Amino acid sequence: MQHGGVGELLTDIRIDPFLVPQRCLYTGARMPAIGLGTFGSDHVSASQVAECVKAAARFGYRHFDCASVYGNEDHIGQALAEVMGSGVAREDLWITSKVWNDKHAEEDVIASCEKSLADLHLGYLDLYLVHWPFPNFHPPGCDVTARSKDAMPYVHASYMKTWRSMEKLVERGLVRHIGTSNMTIPKLKRVLEDARIRPAVNEMELHPHFQQPELFEFVRSHHIEPVGYSPLGSPHRPERDRTAEDTSPTDDTVILRIAERHGVHPAVVCIKWAVQRGQTPIPFSANPRNIFNNLLGVTADPLTEEEMREIGGLDRNCRLIKGQVFLWKEGQSWEALWDVNGEITPA
Ligand SMILES: NC(=O)c1ccc[n+]([C@@H]2O[C@H](COP(=O)([O-])OP(=O)(O)OC[C@H]3O[C@@H](n4cnc5c(N)ncnc54)[C@H](OP(=O)(O)O)[C@@H]3O)[C@@H](O)[C@H]2O)c1
Repeated sequence: MQHGGVGELLTDIRIDPFLVPQRCLYTGARMPAIGLGTFGSDHVSASQVAECVKAAARFGYRHFDCASVYGNEDHIGQALAEVMGSGVAREDLWITSKVWNDKHAEEDVIASCEKSLADLHLGYLDLYLVHWPFPNFHPPGCDVTARSKDAMPYVHASYMKTWRSMEKLVERGLVRHIGTSNMTIPKLKRVLEDARIRPAVNEMELHPHFQQPELFEFVRSHHIEPVGYSPLGSPHRPERDRTAEDTSPTDDTVILRIAERHGVHPAVVCIKWAVQRGQTPIPFSANPRNIFNNLLGVTADPLTEEEMREIGGLDRNCRLIKGQVFLWKEGQSWEALWDVNGEITPA
């Protein structure tokens, strides 16, 4: 498919959503295997993100990854209303939202979901996630050294109270699926023991430099779909979220070489790899050309088995979104959040 400038992209070019690979969840529901991220962070305004949602829907995206904490669900709701007004059926969209960390209490979960539904102009969500397993509030945009004096570790009994409210949302028809995010194997094992409604999805950081092979295999073996956030290594994340050890998959020489071979940006190679490996990437972009190219990348010109193997060998265990602000004790290292010793880090 040929494409020219952004103006042309905005009006003329579409990819048939039926060509986009789908994931089949344990309920039998189908979820498009690529979604558009909607976290504008510090540099993309709510109205710009809403414009991206409209452009993406025109291109053929049907899956949108939203969250109350992104501060733009009301704008995205307007965009979705226009998308549906233009003839896209609600059942053909896959809309995710997430409950933020300061809303884990039973009634707060319900109220937060109702607020997201109202903002998004929807009668139900396809997927509602517990955004982080720590009920800790920190102000948006704060530095990674910021700590809440009320910070709490993961307490399984408390998480399950939150999960019961998530289950009620399904029972009440407000939400079709529920899921987890930023979890570890030890935490997920406990949740799977106690859940009445099992998580359908686990959203986790996934890119060629952070492949999380054990967690990836664990969730898949339990019929939980892995959704991969920051699939390009979040190249434009704010300075405060960077450390000297971080590496960038889109600068990796192997990815650059494969990109050249396919005539695409290295970002598109990361997206192709993600979908072919079996996760569902949710790349963000404020650039219509990139939004389009990411979707095109998963419908044409797949990577070869050899290229998949090469990228599989690039894992550096390089977590970029470390979550430091969730630490609950002085002097702790961010690894404590991720249960790297194979058990839930004790309080
Ligand atoms: N569950 C969680 O805790 C969690 C955490 C983080 C993120 N997320 C979700 O994951 C989404 C994506 O993560 P992210 O925003 O951190 O990072 P990302 O998707 O890895 O990277 C986004 C950046 O890549 C650039 N980009 C996208 N496509 C490109 C292309 N084809 N060529 C060149 N550059 C391209 C974009 O720049 P341009 O705008 O210039 O295209 C954008 O700034 C978020 O928006 C959010 O929905 C969830």
